[in-house]
Amino acid sequence: MEPYAFAALVTPEGEGTRAVQLYRAILSAIRLGRAAGALPSSRAAAEALGLSRNTVNAAYELLRAEGAIAVAPGAAPRILPPPPLPPSPAPGPTPPLSARGHQLAAEGRPWPAPTLFAPGRPDEALFPRDLWALALRRAARQPQGAAFAYGEFSGLPSLRAALARRLAADRGMRVSPEQVLVTPGAKASLTLLAVALAGPGDAALIEEPGYNGARSAFGGAGLGLSPLPVDGVGADPDRADWGCSPRLIYVTPANQYPLGARLTLARRAALLARAAECGALVIEDDYDSEFHWEGRALPALQGSAPDQVAALGTASKALMPALRLGWIVAPPALAGALAAVQRALGLGANIHAQGALADLIESGQYRAQLHRISRTYGERGRAFAAALRRLPIPSVADPTGGVQLTIRLPEGVEARAVAALNAAGFGPVPLSAFCIGEAQEGLVAGFAQATPERIARFCEVLTWAL
Ligand SMILES: Cc1ncc(COP(=O)(O)O)c(C=O)c1O
Repeated sequence: MEPYAFAALVTPEGEGTRAVQLYRAILSAIRLGRAAGALPSSRAAAEALGLSRNTVNAAYELLRAEGAIAVAPGAAPRILPPPPLPPSPAPGPTPPLSARGHQLAAEGRPWPAPTLFAPGRPDEALFPRDLWALALRRAARQPQGAAFAYGEFSGLPSLRAALARRLAADRGMRVSPEQVLVTPGAKASLTLLAVALAGPGDAALIEEPGYNGARSAFGGAGLGLSPLPVDGVGADPDRADWGCSPRLIYVTPANQYPLGARLTLARRAALLARAAECGALVIEDDYDSEFHWEGRALPALQGSAPDQVAALGTASKALMPALRLGWIVAPPALAGALAAVQRALGLGANIHAQGALADLIESGQYRAQLHRISRTYGERGRAFAAALRRLPIPSVADPTGGVQLTIRLPEGVEARAVAALNAAGFGPVPLSAFCIGEAQEGLVAGFAQATPERIARFCEVLTWAL
């Protein structure tokens, strides 16, 4: 190689002695395919680079030791081809999903429908953007101490304390901050409880029709599911098969999902008695009980039996599902062990979002947000139900809380109605999708985004499908 072309290719720099710098620069040029054939003699290279011959000889020696060049007396150093790479193994197939993975993938697949009037969706326009941005900024500027790493995995102490105070005052819970575990949402809470309290082959009772998120969380943990039938006043413990000896019982007493019933006091007492007989934990999903606009919300079941009930809450309805913020109020005797399982599974929540939520609760802004959305969702829900009552279908009661209602349909109409509404840009979910036993026909439709025009169009399309 011509000495001055060689000098233009290599720039000795960086750490180490001059010889090491030169060695690195030449090696890099060889590896990148810029230098080939033979290097200049050490004398010619030293002259072209303005370095001493000793320096060049030391660099060449390092290259020889590396196997990058061969040096023979009286000849220019020869660049060697790179050593052959070890043969790469034949490409193997991608491992398949397990049977459980297949089941969960089927359950978790997004519903292939528009999101307008889909159940469980709050209205994005009601998210308090500016308040949240300020609270989040304050939270991000706080030094976190133990919470910075893994020290407060079950939640920021300030949020656990704020939630305990609020849930005691507003939901009648008997709760200390140590019982509150902050999680990435109610679904994660269900997974945590299922894994910690039951094993493959154990049974769980879930409301029928009921929340499909509970079905997938329990199914994912390998539990067998048995229906807990629901009627106009909520889950009916007398109609469940208690022979399965459930380890877990999933209920939504404040606002049954998806039918909207409020569990009566008599049913509450019967449920707790049955659960005590078989030693089961009752999971009370209090997912949207915080905004009730008809009468007073009944206090949480947890308040009557804090040792038997784990109550779940979530910020998904009052603020935004994608925040992924929820909480478990655990029975005191289980709280420590559940916190350890939570850490083992890595089911912690984002610390800045937790700080922002604690800030909103303590400043009263969270309660103000609940009032705001209750008023709006109340109006929209009542307007939607009133319009539906004018159609030739079983009467739809005014919703008393939450963001969705259920429309019962005559037999054989559900699939046609869903298809027509989907085609018109609406995303209600068939009621049959919420059943594990005999399918019930109807539509579960959200009303958080219901404007008079959208309600009118929805009813028009539904009438056509009937
Ligand atoms: C009954 C019920 N529980 C909980 C949730 C919310 O769960 P997450 O906190 O995981 O968003 C929903 C959402 O639709 C729900 O319908």
